[in-house]
Amino acid sequence: MVGGGQLARMTHQAAIALGQSLRVLSQAPDDSAALVAADVRIGTHTDLSALREFAKGCDAVTFDHEHVPTGHIAALAAEGVKIYPGAEAIVFAQDKRRMRERLSELGAPVPRWRPVSTAAEIADFAAEVGARPGEGSGWPVVAKAVRGGYDGRGVWMLADLAAAEELVATGVELIVEERVPLRREIAALVARSPFGQVAAYPVVETVQRDGICVEVLAPAPGLPEELAVEAQQLAIDLAHALGVVGLLAVELFETADGIVVNELAMRPHNSGHWTIEGARTSQFEQHLRAVLDYPMGETSLTAPAVVMANVLGGAPGGMTLDERLHHLFAADPGVRVHLYGKQVRPGRKIGHVTVLGDDMTSVRARAARAARWLQEGK
Ligand SMILES: Nc1ncnc2c1ncn2[C@@H]1O[C@H](COP(=O)(O)OP(=O)(O)OP(=O)(O)O)[C@@H](O)[C@H]1O
Ligand SMILES: [Mg+2]
Repeated sequence: MVGGGQLARMTHQAAIALGQSLRVLSQAPDDSAALVAADVRIGTHTDLSALREFAKGCDAVTFDHEHVPTGHIAALAAEGVKIYPGAEAIVFAQDKRRMRERLSELGAPVPRWRPVSTAAEIADFAAEVGARPGEGSGWPVVAKAVRGGYDGRGVWMLADLAAAEELVATGVELIVEERVPLRREIAALVARSPFGQVAAYPVVETVQRDGICVEVLAPAPGLPEELAVEAQQLAIDLAHALGVVGLLAVELFETADGIVVNELAMRPHNSGHWTIEGARTSQFEQHLRAVLDYPMGETSLTAPAVVMANVLGGAPGGMTLDERLHHLFAADPGVRVHLYGKQVRPGRKIGHVTVLGDDMTSVRARAARAARWLQEGK
C-alpha cells in the first residue's frame, strides 16, 4: 500500500488474517502504518523510481490516499504491475473537475457546478443560481480546489464577490457549486474486484463538523428503503462505469428531491471504519480481497445499530491519552477503540471509537461520550 497513514495501518491489520503481509511505502518512519508494519519502505509517492522499486515482488499495489500521479500509475501498470485502482479510474477521485464532468456525462445527480478562473465568473454563477425561483441571491456558493483538498481543506463557502476575489487571488484552480439544501449527508460504500464482482455495504449517515467527518451512523437512521437501494445501485453503477477496482465510497447529500453526489473516494474511507466491528467483513479486508481478486465478503451488519465517532486531537494538557483510555475502558467496557499512533495536533484525526447495540439513540450517545472523553478528557 502506497501511503503510511491510518488507512494503511488498519489495512495491515486486515492483511494479517488473510495470510498476507502488507508492504507500506511511507514518507516517514513515524507515520501511522510505518510504526506497525513489518515491511516498510521509506519514500515519496511522487517518485516513480521509488514506486517501481517498492512494487517489485508485490502481488498487487494499492493506495491509502489519492495523490499518486496517474502517469506513474499508468507507467507501472504498463510494466506489468497489478496496481489498483488504475489510472483511468483514480483520476475521478483526484480531480474534482474531472469527477464532476464524468458524473454529469454518466447522468448521475450532481449539484449545479462550473469550472471558474475569475471572481466575475463566480459572481455570474451565483446570479444564475439566484435567478431560479426560491433561491435567494444565489450566494453563498461553494468553491472547491480541483486537487489536493481533504477534511474540508480546499472547500470554501463564499458569501459574496469580495470573498470570491480573495480566494481567486490565491491562484488555486477552482470549481464552483451551488450550495445544496441538504437534509443530511449519507455515504454508499461498495467494492469491486477485477473479475467484476461487487459488494455493497448498508448506506450510512455521515455527520460533519467544520468540514470534518465526526460521526458515522450505520445504517442511516430512517432512510427509506428505496433511497438506500438507489444509493447502493448508483455506487455499483459508478464502480462499473469508472472501472474501479477496490473500494469506492460515494459521498451523497440527501435533499427533499432525492440524492445528489458530493464526491468519490477510491480507497478505504472514514465512512467505512464502523465495518471493522459492525459488518461481517471490514472495508479494509474487502479492499484487499478486491485488489487481490478474491471473492467479496458478506457486508451485512453485526448489530442493529452501529456508530463510529472520530477522535480528533484536543488541546494539550490534562491526562495523557493512555490515562484517558484507562478511564474510558473502566466506564464503558463495550466501546471499541482504534488509536492511530499519530502525534496529537488540534483537529487532527488521531483515532476512532465504535459502539454496537440495539438502539441508535443510546449507541450514538455512548460513542459521542467516548470520543469526547478521549479528545478532551472530560
Ligand atoms: N455543494 C455543496 N453544498 C453544500 N455543502 C457542501 C457542498 N459541497 C461540500 N459541502 C460540505 O463540505 C464538506 C466537504 O466537502 P468535500 O467532501 O467536497 O470536501 P473534502 O475536503 O474533499 O472532503 P473529505 O473530508 O471527504 O476529504 C461536505 O461534507 C459538505 O458538508
Ligand atoms: Mg468529502
